[in-house]
Formats: sequence, structure tokens, C-alpha cells
Amino acid sequence: MARIDEQTTRDIAAQFDHKAEMLVQILQAIVSRYGWVPAETIRQLAEELNLSRADVHGVVEYYHDFRTIEPGKHIVKICQAEACQAMGSRELTEHAKKALTIELHDTNDDVTLEPVYCLGNCACSPAVMIDGKTHGRVDESRFDALLDTMRGND
Ligand code: FES
Repeated sequence: MARIDEQTTRDIAAQFDHKAEMLVQILQAIVSRYGWVPAETIRQLAEELNLSRADVHGVVEYYHDFRTIEPGKHIVKICQAEACQAMGSRELTEHAKKALTIELHDTNDDVTLEPVYCLGNCACSPAVMIDGKTHGRVDESRFDALLDTMRGND
């Protein structure tokens, strides 16, 4: 993913009229474009929105999707909520960790592996999201096939 520059941060803040109450929407706009919120962007947003750095940092820390570490090219999320756990998401997560040789919240050469707490796909659990697309009833072999497809699309 690309790094966000100061002018882009300024432009995104301007789209929301530099309103402090739009901080979550501003962060969403940044993360949807860049995948993460670097420390220098947190500092700049505090200035742009006339907030303290702690205010911005607190919101970033609260939401899972507002990463402060640059993610890999691909983001794989495995649901850890109750319905998916009942259908084997813990075992699937262990399989994913081995397949990708990383732990949850880590990034290898091209993939970031993250937990997520319900993808709204409980009827088709266990559910996985890969690069924003949700997949249901994912077992180990289907997970491996999804990784192959993901990498095949590079
Ligand atoms: S509990 Fe996993 S999608 Fe809802």
C-alpha cells in the first residue's frame, strides 16, 4: 500500500470541512484508500481538526480497522465471533496461521492476517474476508484455494 502524503491528508480533511466530529469518517476515507493511518497522519489530523494527538490516537486505537502499521498487499480476516467459532473458526485460524506462517495481527511478505468479530455472514459460518470480499463455509481446503486465487490475481 502507498504512503499517504500531507497534501492528501489535508484534502481529505477538507472534504469533511475540517470538522472534528467527522474524525471517524475522515479516518475511514484514509484507511479505505491507504489501508492504515501512520503516526505522522495522526499528528497532522490533530492539527487539521484542532484536536489533541491523544484525541485522534484514541479513536484510531478504538476501531480495529484503523491500523497504525502498514498492512500487506492482501488482508485476510477470519471471523472469531460465536457462530463462526461454533463452526470451526478457531481451527481454521490455526490452519491459516500455519499456511501463512504468521500470527494474527501480523504481516508476511504479502498478507496481513486479522481477526474480525462478525462479518454478517453467520448463516454461512465460518466466514472469512479476503481483500474486502466475504466468503462463507470456509474449511481448510477452501481457505487454501482462496489464497491461491488471491495470489493468482496479483
Ligand atoms: S459470527 Fe462470524 S459472520 Fe457472524
